[in-house]
Amino acid sequence: MAVLKLEDGTLHSDLSYITQELATLNIFINRWNIPNNPELQSLLAQDSLDEDEKEQVLKALDSYFEKLQQTAGYQSRDLVVLHPGIPNLDSLIAKFDQIHTHADDEVRYVIDGEAIFGFVRPDGSQVELTVQPEEYINVPAGTEHWFYLTSGRRVKAVRYFITTEAWTPQYTGREIRFRQPIAK
Ligand SMILES: [Fe+2]
Repeated sequence: MAVLKLEDGTLHSDLSYITQELATLNIFINRWNIPNNPELQSLLAQDSLDEDEKEQVLKALDSYFEKLQQTAGYQSRDLVVLHPGIPNLDSLIAKFDQIHTHADDEVRYVIDGEAIFGFVRPDGSQVELTVQPEEYINVPAGTEHWFYLTSGRRVKAVRYFITTEAWTPQYTGREIRFRQPIAK
């Protein structure tokens, strides 16, 4: 279940509260069930997946992709697999763990592990949302955000794209206040 952390350190897991706190950003969160399919479950339990295995996972979940194709013009999807055994994991994450925006929506469906999305709200306040398996999130284009992993350093997430051309982070230079001790 998603957990929202506010700058005062409080944690919130009530989905209607989270939705309300993120409302000014037009972030959309939903719960998408992972099919109860033994082959899929055993692939999700592996640390790493080769290209064929990734495609098997994506195919098992393609009913969601087809809906996005039909209703919102999505064109492609891929699977990100991150785990502590990846030698350059830190440099892969470093690209996205500073505050940035994209020219396109950032659309993710977490299917194993977990990841943290941080957001800057229009009033300048910051929040961090831990997204967990079976959770879908759409972060609108232009939203100031950052992304990193929890201490387990493991996530599998489907990424959905309308176009991959705009998929370059634009860094805004703003500091992430969550990395500094909160003054009492
Ligand atoms: Fe991003």
